[in-house]
Amino acid sequence: MNATRLNRTPEWAALTKHREQLADTHLRELFAADAERGSRYTLQVGDLYLDYSKQRVTDETLALLRDLAAATDVAGLRDAMFRGEKINITENRAVLHTALRAPRDAVIEVDGENVVPAVHAVLDKMSAFSERIRSGGWTGHTGKPIKNVVNIGIGGSDLGPAMAYEALRSYTARDLTLRFVSNVDGADLHEAVRDLDPAETLFIIASKTFTTVETITNATSARDWLLTGLGAGQDAVAKHFVALSTNAGKVSEFGIDTANMFEFWDWVGGRYSYDSAIGLSLMIAIGPDRFREMLDGFHLVDEHFRTAPPEENAPMLLGLLGIWYDNFFDAQSHAVLPYSHYLSRFTAYLQQLDMESNGKSVDREGNRVDWQTGPVVWGTPGTNGQHAYYQLIHQGTKLIPADFIGFAEPVGDLLPGLVPQHDLLMANFFAQTQALAFGKTPDEVRAEGVAEELVPHKTFVGNHPTTTILAKQLTPSVLGQLVALYEHKVFVQGAVWNIDSFDQWGVELGKVLAKRIEPVLTRTGTSAADAADGEDLDSSTATLVDTYRTLRGR
Ligand code: F6P
Repeated sequence: MNATRLNRTPEWAALTKHREQLADTHLRELFAADAERGSRYTLQVGDLYLDYSKQRVTDETLALLRDLAAATDVAGLRDAMFRGEKINITENRAVLHTALRAPRDAVIEVDGENVVPAVHAVLDKMSAFSERIRSGGWTGHTGKPIKNVVNIGIGGSDLGPAMAYEALRSYTARDLTLRFVSNVDGADLHEAVRDLDPAETLFIIASKTFTTVETITNATSARDWLLTGLGAGQDAVAKHFVALSTNAGKVSEFGIDTANMFEFWDWVGGRYSYDSAIGLSLMIAIGPDRFREMLDGFHLVDEHFRTAPPEENAPMLLGLLGIWYDNFFDAQSHAVLPYSHYLSRFTAYLQQLDMESNGKSVDREGNRVDWQTGPVVWGTPGTNGQHAYYQLIHQGTKLIPADFIGFAEPVGDLLPGLVPQHDLLMANFFAQTQALAFGKTPDEVRAEGVAEELVPHKTFVGNHPTTTILAKQLTPSVLGQLVALYEHKVFVQGAVWNIDSFDQWGVELGKVLAKRIEPVLTRTGTSAADAADGEDLDSSTATLVDTYRTLRGR
């Protein structure tokens, strides 16, 4: 299909017409018309129970959305991805994060070579290393065991392990301190190390390219901090620094022995990498067995996505529901609202996964698209959100589709008095999607004796679409299942929109400009007013730079 014309296909036209027919059909009507809706519009995938009955869809909507997926050959691109074809066309790379969680005996080839043995060799090396740290068998330069692990990385080399560490905190070795440093703002590294003993600290430098300025700058500062703190020379680095990277040359240039490097490959995108070597900090925290349970969770959903028919395919469904609102209701954003404190970083992680993947405006052939692509993804743990921004979701003017994620049981060793709180948490979880869907009519408000002038203010229009994802408990496997679900949802959307979900050229320009501006900020022997001369800066940036230099007394 000529993808620039996605919005001129019969399938698109049929959805546009259907949208008009559905108009503002209320979820109240859809539920009234089908007593079974709440159990019929559900899916069970592994440990995840999905309820999409509170979506503004009918059987016809779903069939039309599946027609769109068929017309855009989502399944064909999916199969090409699983086969290891180079579907990241602008970087000419395979997209094989699914190989990272494939079983040992699987065969997945890139350029004729089975990559699975290498994946497991790295996992084994990570396991052995993690066990040495966890058992105290790996000692630092002075002979003390490692007690603190600081991961230095940014983007996909930070968000995944940082999110998963929080998510699985109740499974972590509590005698280890884990910290994650990403920001080039020196405050980040300062706060991470200020109370640590360098003799007991391991730095994990996580960078796919090993050229990312923020990470290399922080890693260099960390090395200085460590060597100064230990009063040691370069030879101390080997005991306190390991690298996670695809770039052995740059790792050894930095001074880390490549024997202490955990490898991954160019067919793993940064935002799809935390189940690769990038997850080393997480593995140290939760142990290799738990890490493998998480990989099995990923794999379960990979297999589901690869084999389930479209009607029962959860990532397909979630992707298409997103397209329904994005393209046919002009929704601009999508909220992900976990009812789990441990998932406090989950939506931040999804922001990179989704927005760096699908924040594109040209198609795979380089033509400008004239349909909406990826939404703004946002959200924080639900109960906190209820007392902050839910007002806007309930009564504002914007349509905000949302995913609610909750668990039947709390995890870990909560203080006994805290366990009953879980029912209160989940009562809120269920109440919110109910309120969003069904709202409160003016008549219902009046029936409560509310003064007429307040009726409009206390009315809830409802009809706000949500998906509920419920699992028994937030285990490592369930976390893997959830992440894979969203990875593949993003894939489905990118496939329909015919964009390359696996490149990220949009982050490049800012990097180049920062490189040009930095010397202007620090230049000596010139006044603030003259520092930017000859630098071809626009008048706003030049003035800002002057002001900055003046404020810094330069
Ligand atoms: O933000 C751009 C990006 O390239 C991300 O895609 C990536 O996750 C991040 O920078 C970090 O890159 P690296 O792992 O190479 O340091």
